[in-house]
Amino acid sequence: MSGHNVWTHKGTFLLAAVGSAVGLGNLWRFPYLTGENGGGAFILVYALTIFAVGIPILIAETMLGRTSRQSPIMGMRHLTKTHKTSRAWESIGWLGAASAFLILSFYSVIAGWALHYTWLMLTGSLVGADAQTISDGFNALLASPGLMTLYHTLFIAGSALIVGMGIHKGIESGLRIMMPALFVILIVVLIYGIINGDVGAAASFLFTFNLSDLSLEGWLQAMGQSFFTLSLGMGAIMAYGAYMSSEASLTRTAIAVAFVDTAVAMVAGLAIFSLVFGAGLETGQGPGLMFVTLPLAFAEMPFGALVGGVFFILVLGAAISSSISLIEPVAAFLVERFDMTRPQAVMIMVVAAWAMGLLTVVSFNVWAEGTIFHSLFGRSAFEFIELLTNIFMPLGGLMIALFAGWALTQSEVMKELGTNATWFKIWRFLVRFVGPAAVSFVFLRTIPQVEGYFIPALGSLIIVGAFAASQRLRHTKA
Ligand code: PFF
Repeated sequence: MSGHNVWTHKGTFLLAAVGSAVGLGNLWRFPYLTGENGGGAFILVYALTIFAVGIPILIAETMLGRTSRQSPIMGMRHLTKTHKTSRAWESIGWLGAASAFLILSFYSVIAGWALHYTWLMLTGSLVGADAQTISDGFNALLASPGLMTLYHTLFIAGSALIVGMGIHKGIESGLRIMMPALFVILIVVLIYGIINGDVGAAASFLFTFNLSDLSLEGWLQAMGQSFFTLSLGMGAIMAYGAYMSSEASLTRTAIAVAFVDTAVAMVAGLAIFSLVFGAGLETGQGPGLMFVTLPLAFAEMPFGALVGGVFFILVLGAAISSSISLIEPVAAFLVERFDMTRPQAVMIMVVAAWAMGLLTVVSFNVWAEGTIFHSLFGRSAFEFIELLTNIFMPLGGLMIALFAGWALTQSEVMKELGTNATWFKIWRFLVRFVGPAAVSFVFLRTIPQVEGYFIPALGSLIIVGAFAASQRLRHTKA
């Protein structure tokens, strides 16, 4: 790929970024985290983080891609040279590539479960089943490394096929068919939920805020989720940004992506909780919410098998449009750096992520306990990989914010953003101070010995202040 590959239309980046953002994060993770954390208060923290931290970083990450017009690793290398900053910033690209690889490995396994449920639903196997049968069925799936590997393989191979066909014939064409279909299905499922479920109970669960209900853990999860759902800090957005038309507005596009992504999470939450409450079920199931509680609700409702089947197709489509954005940054890097063909590059990334995914597969059965991961980190390999990505993502986001806000030559940045001076100042304030302070706060607060909010708040101010001072000095010397 040359550095000048660009999407066919001005609006394609928006389509691609929404495809990346809307995924298992919205349909599976958001509802179950909200369910576990008691509803409204969780959503409040989540939404605030999206708007104050997520959108400015989304703008920054897209901008890094578009100005460099290369894959994240090569692009960061290029920017450190042209803006005469430290080479250390190149680590943003490497960190992104590592996170994309790790996320893809487990994302594909979980999307594989949706493949299983699409099949179960459409064949009518769950019609009229009781709670015990459905939860036994899910446990049987988790207990079978063979079955999970099969689904994982099918899903990742499908994603590889799309990316292997190139950004126009594969990614663009795929998204152009998938995304409108997904929105239609989502609306159908919402209407079905309103008719058959209890939308009033769902709405009051989602939109009644009581901050004191929210545990500290819930706070952290809400912030982590807002990064995950916007696909931030992973190179995915940067890689897609490299193909973005120079004419499209960075700020407007980023706001639109965040808006659609949040709306999808809310509509999915409303539909899922309507069904769950309508069937008199509990919200706090954790990851099983989509695979146990929801199938149970469908099992009891009219046309449940059909609508349930269509719902799981939605989950699959949303997952595939996200997983392709995890393959792209690494594949594009391999093409640029080692002159590989695109199919070769995709193959290397996907085979490696597939093999890594086997660790997630066995974490639910043969390696569910007593492994080296349990003795070293007190958790399974899957949980460890998830923890790593939960650290890498905000860390990547933090570095992107600092790099864009402080290290780059600001006159160039203002030109690239193309906004007026006031918007530029607001954006710069958010990426210079608010984003970094919020992320440092969360990191400091996760240290087990630190209690309360005072020390993390003070600590984050000190970190951001020290960083700001060091960058000022560098610029005055230069
Ligand atoms: N944003 C996706 C979701 O919500 O499911 C997950 C994701 C995709 C995260 C791509 C990161 C990424 F680079």
